[in-house]
Amino acid sequence: MQSIESNNHQPLLSIRGGCKYFGGITALDNVDIDVYNHEILALLGDNGAGKSTLIKAVSGAHTLDEGDIFFDGKKVSINRPEDAYKLGIKTVYQDMALFGILDVTSNLFAGAEYTHWGFLQKKKMNQEAFGVLSNLKTTIKTLHQEVRSLSGGQQHAVAIARGVYIGYDPRLIIMDEPTAGLGVKQSREVLRLLKELKREFAIIFITHNLDYAFDTADRIAVLCGGRVVGKRLIQEANQTEIVKLMMGVEDKNNQKI
Ligand SMILES: Nc1ncnc2c1ncn2[C@@H]1O[C@H](COP(=O)(O)OP(=O)(O)O)[C@@H](O)[C@H]1O
Ligand SMILES: [Mg+2]
Repeated sequence: MQSIESNNHQPLLSIRGGCKYFGGITALDNVDIDVYNHEILALLGDNGAGKSTLIKAVSGAHTLDEGDIFFDGKKVSINRPEDAYKLGIKTVYQDMALFGILDVTSNLFAGAEYTHWGFLQKKKMNQEAFGVLSNLKTTIKTLHQEVRSLSGGQQHAVAIARGVYIGYDPRLIIMDEPTAGLGVKQSREVLRLLKELKREFAIIFITHNLDYAFDTADRIAVLCGGRVVGKRLIQEANQTEIVKLMMGVEDKNNQKI
């Protein structure tokens, strides 16, 4: 049977034989994962399954104890966050940390302002901010309004845009539980943003919400006890089976774990 890896295009990111140990705990156990351009990979698993450890290994917060990471077909070393960042691996954190009284552009470029001879290049930043927010099809009307006057959904768009677009060119976007603690409307906006970002980049989306995973993902990988216990194309997945996998019920049909 054809395995899920045998798409005819090359993955943007691959992990092979990824292992991570914390003292006596095996947080990642021989993990093989592929992420493709223009796809959302939903990473599912119960608490403690290893999801955060896996994405920390990709984003440079942790180093794998064993295994290899390939990016764009080349073996890479990701030992610190800058290594990931330079490759275009952008992790968008849940903590928005926006500056309420500053305008949209100032928030987008906070800490990464364009300057020339010590002067802020406000026009250049506004142009870029406009382009970025247009890409994401947000409803933000003006860049000059204070972000505290934006809706919750719009504020998430600013925070996500900052995490994705500012700095090195993005290639792979990682979001760990971006809808946790959000209401339905705000969550819907985050899901919409994920789908917009997918048009340009590869996405890893960690969520506890199976409806959100099924709504957005192209593929699902399920972790349990640090092992990848199932991989499915979304059209071949069903929620009951995915829940069983998350709970550690063995997957007899999986051809390649
Ligand atoms: N820094 C750490 N030190 C010790 N154990 C850790 C650390 N980070 C994660 N773990 C352990 O590794 C396992 C996987 O955790 P984690 O990746 O956070 O799971 P998830 O994100 O799926 O909830 C858990 O048993 C957790 O307790
Ligand atoms: Mg986690």
